[in-house]
This record gives sequence, structure tokens and C-alpha cells, in this order.
Amino acid sequence: MLTLKKIFKSLTIEIKKSSEINELNAIRIKYLGKKGVFSNCIKNFKSFSFEEKKKYIIMFNDIKKKVISEINEKRIELDNVLLYKRIKKEKIDVSLPGRRLEHGSIHPINCSLNNIKIFFSKLGFESIHGLEIEDEYHNFDALNIPKNHPSRNHNDTFWLDSDHLLRTQTSSMQIRIMKKEKPPIRFIFPGKVYRNDYDSTHTPMFHQVEGLIVEKNINFSNLKWIIYNFLYDFFDKNISIRFRPSYFPFTTPSAEVDIITNDKKSLEILGCGMVHPIVLKNVNIDPHIYSACAFGIGVERITMLRYGVSDLRSFFENDIKFIKQFKYI
Ligand code: DAH
Repeated sequence: MLTLKKIFKSLTIEIKKSSEINELNAIRIKYLGKKGVFSNCIKNFKSFSFEEKKKYIIMFNDIKKKVISEINEKRIELDNVLLYKRIKKEKIDVSLPGRRLEHGSIHPINCSLNNIKIFFSKLGFESIHGLEIEDEYHNFDALNIPKNHPSRNHNDTFWLDSDHLLRTQTSSMQIRIMKKEKPPIRFIFPGKVYRNDYDSTHTPMFHQVEGLIVEKNINFSNLKWIIYNFLYDFFDKNISIRFRPSYFPFTTPSAEVDIITNDKKSLEILGCGMVHPIVLKNVNIDPHIYSACAFGIGVERITMLRYGVSDLRSFFENDIKFIKQFKYI
């Protein structure tokens, strides 16, 4: 039994000395393993008398229990050391400034579209977007545009097949809505339109807002009032504009509105007029009972003037520096 006590003493020292989990595991296997020191001890008990066996086995179990608890205690201690080391290494510096999240901004064209929608909703206009793929009937025929009109040409219009095209104007929505709704009608149709053009004042895709009123006594003065007030609201000041007589196959009389800039230059921003009786007949509205006025605003044009943008193409070049300038508008 002396040897057992000796073993326990040296084992306690070994456990205390161990500084790593691996080392501790090796000690555990050396003493408590199947072929370990303790198993060998038990083999020696064979030669003992029954009484001796009883006595030693109690001692043996007692010592074994102590060894197991010492190993477990040491394991907890070593685990804690390891954890402490890891925490020290992974320390987070809470005083470091955080990473900023970049905020996006509303595109200036969408900003204008929103302003336009708000203004017209106050005057009782409903807003519908409509489809960007149109057929020839709605984009040209029903709008009284002659078969040989140059705008139907392949050089100007993006045709998808012999009957379908990317709409060249939101005016096609006039036809769709007049066919669907009964007067009085008061709608705006904001959306994208497509033409084969590209220079500092034209892009192949741009935005229009079409407006349409069909009522019993609507006239050109009403139309002018709406346009004046819209522009006053949009630019937030009185601006110099000119109604210039013009021609559109689907309106008569027709006009274009120019804005006169400070340096006396003029820029066309919209077309308008009284809807042509032929167009009203095309959609089964009696022109003797109802009159209609319409307008089509070029959204890029008025946005350029509002923010002093000189090249229309910059709206669509995805230059983040350009877009960011409009962050706070
Ligand atoms: N659709 C015409 C264009 O794209 C603009 C226009 C002119 C719209 C007169 C109208 C209008 O509603 O009455 O050039």
C-alpha cells in the first residue's frame, strides 16, 4: 500500500506541474487508462488475503477518486487559462469609430416625377403608368398620325415586330383610357418612352407625363391655367414661358411651351392642345358633347432647367458623383 501512496504523491505533483491540456490527458491515460498504473495495482491484489483485499480496495478507490477530482480541477483551470488567452487576443476596441452605411438618394428624375404626381393629384388627376410596349394602333393610328408620318419610321422608332414597338410617346395612353373610362376623365400618365435619338438634349429613353381631361366644357384657357400653375409649382417661382402655336395630328389647336432662360435662350418643355375631334370619334366619344385637352411634359427637360444640368445624358450615365449632388433635394 505504501507504493499506492507514493504513486499518489508523485501523481499529484505531475498534475500540478502540467501546463497544457495535452499533458494532462497523457497523465490521465498513464495512470487511469486500461493498461495504466492503477490497473496494474489491482492485479497485485490477487495475492492478498480476503481481509487485506477489502481494506486495500477501499483505500484504492478513495485514492482513485481523489486523482479523478484533481485531474478534473486541473482541467477546468487549464480551460480557463486558454479562454482567457483567447479573449485577450480577440479583444474588441469599442472606442473605434463605426463603419458608415452609405445612404442612397432618389434619382432627380424620380424626384421630379413625384413632384408632378403630387401637384396633379391635388387637382383631382389620377395617375396610371401604362405599358411600355405598345401596338401601332394606340401609338399612331388612333392618334390620327398619318401612315406615312416620319415618326413611324424605323430610324426613329424601336419596332419589336410589324405591329409592336417601344412606345414613342405617352399619348397612346389617352386612347387606352378614353376607351375604358366614361367622361368626365382626368388622368396623368407618367412613364418611359423610347426614340432613336442621342445627343446632349436627347436620349433613347426618356420620361414624359401625359395629361388628359375630358369634360363637357373644357377649353384652351383651362389648359393654359393648368400649365402655368404647374410650372409655377414645379420651379417654385414665376418663370418666363411662351405658348408657341404648333402642330400635332392628335390635337387642334396645338401648342408647344418653351421656357425662356435668363440668357434669353428658349427650351421646349411640353406639347399640348385640344384633343382632335377625329381622336374623340376613334374612341367613341361624341365631340359635340365633350371636349378634351391634353399635354405631354418632357420630364428630363424641366429637371435640367430646375437644377441647371446642361447635358441630358448625365441623368442616365450612373455616375454616382452626379447622382449624389441631388441627395438633399
Ligand atoms: N406626344 C407628344 C410628343 O411626344 C407631346 C404631346 C403634344 C402630348 C401634344 C400631348 C399633346 O398630349 O396634346 O412629342
